[in-house]
Amino acid sequence: MKPPFHVLQRLKWRATETAQSQVAARRSRRAQRQLLAEEQEALAAIGARALVDVPGVAAAGEEAERLRAIRRRLQLERDFDRQRPWVTRFEIEGRTYGGKFLAADDRRIGQFRASFPQASSILELGSLEGGHTFALAQLAGVERVVGLEGRAANVAKARFVHTAFDGMSRAAVEFVEVNLEVADLALYGAFDAVFCAGLLYHLPRPWELLQRIGEISDCLFLWTQIASEPRRGEEAGGYPGRTYHEYGEADPLSGLSTMSFWPTWDGLVRMLADAGFHHVELIERGDVQRRGPAVTLAAAKNTSS
Ligand SMILES: C[S@@+](CC[C@H](N)C(=O)[O-])C[C@H]1O[C@@H](n2cnc3c(N)ncnc32)[C@H](O)[C@@H]1O
Repeated sequence: MKPPFHVLQRLKWRATETAQSQVAARRSRRAQRQLLAEEQEALAAIGARALVDVPGVAAAGEEAERLRAIRRRLQLERDFDRQRPWVTRFEIEGRTYGGKFLAADDRRIGQFRASFPQASSILELGSLEGGHTFALAQLAGVERVVGLEGRAANVAKARFVHTAFDGMSRAAVEFVEVNLEVADLALYGAFDAVFCAGLLYHLPRPWELLQRIGEISDCLFLWTQIASEPRRGEEAGGYPGRTYHEYGEADPLSGLSTMSFWPTWDGLVRMLADAGFHHVELIERGDVQRRGPAVTLAAAKNTSS
């Protein structure tokens, strides 16, 4: 008997993940070999192997600075390698590390800024490895970004990158591990805006999170998948939509429960209105995929937000 679709998807994800991880490991080993060779060259140029990082010893100058930069890169390369697999690609001091997804270049960051130009405190939901968090923190005028994320491993990676980015972000950045199916968002304060991308469609009761968002902010930027149409007669919480399987704990991008509920567009707009967001601007509606399109929207409680 053929296994159900979600089981096949899970197996496919694991196989892809393993293959990608092997490619990343090979790339990192190559980069480390290259950096070790550069380190030897820099040491030879200085001609004083042991003296470079000894306090009080005159190891200043361009060559010593170059050596320190090489060693910083080598350390980062090793640290990223040790924490594989990565989803997000980070650019630090002109060099890239991690996975494939360059969150800093994601157009949703610009769309968020255009929708809420005044927002200086931002709550991000489902912050993964911190890619969007750091991009939001680099926006002019942003002072505080809190990333909430349900997987301990993702939070650990985001915190590690935060130390590597040290001094590069003007805003205060913080990551908290929490299950957004039940989290009390008020614990983290009030926010000018909430940035919620790729999370809502992983939840079994998305309307509950929207309600809690409405209690701590007047502005919501949302990117989510929706159902094209409800399965005949299917609804949850009184909203039309469809229930799907999630891909399990091992998938760093998946939900924490086994099932999720995707509302239709009408269902989503009703959920938003019930949470107090009566003004919804549809920024983008993607092509219909197998299950339905993705939508990008800005929602506000009043028009001046
Ligand atoms: C598809 S990824 C999206 C990541 C990122 N926001 C983006 O748009 O690229 C979903 C993220 O939400 C997290 N997540 C899923 N369900 C969650 C829950 N119930 N509570 C907290 N985080 C959750 C996952 O661990 C993952 O980091």
